[in-house]
Amino acid sequence: MRVVASAPGKTILFGEHFVVKGTRAVATALSLRARVAVELSSESHIVIESKNLEAVWRLDLSELKAESKEAEPFVALLKALAKRGYKIAPHRAVIESEVPIAAGLGSSAATATAYALAYSRLLGISLSQKELFEITLESEQVAHGRPSGIDNALATWGGTIVYRRGEEPKHVKIDLKRLSSYSFIVMDTGVKRSTKAVVEHVLKLADKNWTVMKHIYEAADSLVSEAVKALEEGDGERIGELMNINHGLLTSLGASSLELDNLVNRAKSCGALGAKLTGAGWGGSAIAVVSRDRLERVLKCVEGYAVYVKPVEIHGVAATIEELQLR
Ligand code: PMV
Repeated sequence: MRVVASAPGKTILFGEHFVVKGTRAVATALSLRARVAVELSSESHIVIESKNLEAVWRLDLSELKAESKEAEPFVALLKALAKRGYKIAPHRAVIESEVPIAAGLGSSAATATAYALAYSRLLGISLSQKELFEITLESEQVAHGRPSGIDNALATWGGTIVYRRGEEPKHVKIDLKRLSSYSFIVMDTGVKRSTKAVVEHVLKLADKNWTVMKHIYEAADSLVSEAVKALEEGDGERIGELMNINHGLLTSLGASSLELDNLVNRAKSCGALGAKLTGAGWGGSAIAVVSRDRLERVLKCVEGYAVYVKPVEIHGVAATIEELQLR
């Protein structure tokens, strides 16, 4: 038997980094997905194959140890399942992802979520969404150090959510009709970086300068309240304005880079209503909101970068079983 599950990547609209220290953030699922196919094996070990990294890892079942750093999040995932009393059987997992790696679009969370869902279904285990979230968070902790959980919350629940660490996410009720006159575009600088390294840098800077920084964290939380209002009202101009403010706040945390600032400014000078870095920064991606009549012009301006145009949506892109094959 073979089970294929998929889960979406994400883009953070407002509040990345601040969310790590307990403020709220708003994120939306991307139509790019990670797919994991899992089947039981007659051998005595686990084989994980990443098509994107062109790598194959073998895990010994008796001690579940990763032979390479890239396989560690999967070991953590399997250990999280075992800790909850679920059986770890020899199997083969094949990962194929449309979500670019290390680009600020939640590829590790999408992969872990699809893996956990496919494996559990294969064994007839029915995980609740909350359990799926908790298990994948353990994998994210190994991949990113101190993740807020927003990436795997998005991969699990999908849609557009307001997230605060330790709380179940709330879906935002977007005015889709009004917002359909705008597009969100995600632009990848192509510069790869480690989320863990940027998060550690930001936390260190924030702690060192907390008397000043606490006001910036407070500003980021009230920015999220305003952003939710703007999304609910489908007000693209206001969303753009708030994205510009958010980029400024993230720059003060030391999360931006020359490439990101260039991309953000280029999109804005070509007519985007607003733009900001998305995800951890120091490379990775930026997001802009653009009115439909200016979309073509902005897309032309950012030619040469990998660009994803995100249709506005509320539900329907959570982690799902795509295929269950019986032999
Ligand atoms: O760059 P990504 O896709 O790993 O997103 C990181 C988002 C942060 O807020 C910077 C960290 C987190 O865990 O929330």
